[in-house]
Formats: sequence, C-alpha cells, structure tokens
Amino acid sequence: MRSLDEVLTQGIRDIPDYPQPGVLFKDITPLLADHTGFTQVVEAMAAFGKDDDGEVVVDKVVGIEARGFILAAPVALALGAGFVPVRKQGKLPAATYAESYALEYGEATIEVHQDAFAPGDRVLVIDDVLATGGTVEACLRLIRRCGADVAGTAVLIELSFLPGRKRLADERVDALVTV
Ligand code: PRP
Repeated sequence: MRSLDEVLTQGIRDIPDYPQPGVLFKDITPLLADHTGFTQVVEAMAAFGKDDDGEVVVDKVVGIEARGFILAAPVALALGAGFVPVRKQGKLPAATYAESYALEYGEATIEVHQDAFAPGDRVLVIDDVLATGGTVEACLRLIRRCGADVAGTAVLIELSFLPGRKRLADERVDALVTV
C-alpha cells in the first residue's frame, strides 16, 4: 500500500494561473479519480473524528460547498455520523442562519439550515483547502449559532503562506498536507 504522503503527492496537481493570473491552483481531481488513494484520504480525515482509542466522537460532519462536500460526505459515512451541508447563499430551501466574510474583493455569505443540528451535537468540519480561513471561521460561527459544539476542523490542504491557521489560532485545525 502506498503511504498517505505518496497518495497526496500523486493526486494533487498544481495548475498555474487558475482561476486568475498569479494563482497556483491545487487540483484534487486526480486524487478523487484514484479509488484506493481517495479511500486512504477519507480514512485519514475520518480519524480526526475519533479519539485515541478509535472511538467516534462526533455526531455530524459538515461539508463546505462545493469541494468540501466531496470529502465530507464519505467521511460522515465512514464515521457513522450525519452529513450537514454548509452552502453558499440562497441554495438551502428551509430557514437558515447566514454568516458573511471578507474576500479579497467584496464579501461572501454561507448558510446552514437552522435545524441542521440537535442541541449539543459534536461537529467535525471538513473542507478541501484552508487559505485565509475566512470560510471556516464563518462556518464555525454558523455551527455555534445552531447550538452545536465544534469538535474540530480538518482540511486536505493547508496553504501556510496565507493566514488561515493564525486566524483560527483558538480552534483545533488539522491538515493532511501543508504547502
Ligand atoms: C475555496 C475552498 C475553501 C475556501 C478557502 O472555496 O474550497 O472552501 O475557498 O478559502 P479561505 O480559507 O480563504 O476562506 P471556493 O469559494 O473557491 O468554493 P468552491 O469549493 O465552490 O470552488
């Protein structure tokens, strides 16, 4: 079996100048197309929802639209936990809470259904990339507004040249790979 590091190195490719000049985009589609590699990644991310004895310690797994969904749903199934989507504004049909955060130019808003969690639910947040941390920070506010407890956040890739980890200094954040 390949090591997780080998799987990640083989499965994540750099696309220069996407979505705009000067940006080096981390493309995870080769990883997603690699069944054994994707399986190893899901198991590694699911480990963040277990304690040292391997006991599952979360009730719900949140995926952040859109690439976070791809990772969070199989992690939820692997943990025997529920899946909750956090979506971009206007996409969820029932009553929502909304939180906004700053982008380089302008603002973005994400939402969650107000009844997505039972009170005290323990929640693992999953996303593909941690960059400035604005998305995860807003997501954690949403979860807490719902009365649920944040157990931690796990991302596939952390971009260490951006201030995401510093911004989330008071939170538990784990990454499979830091670049
Ligand atoms: C990307 C990525 C994270 C977020 C990280 O999402 O998937 O959710 O940016 O950035 P931040 O740490 O600076 O907030 P994007 O909005 O591009 O959405 P997508 O997954 O729908 O492409």
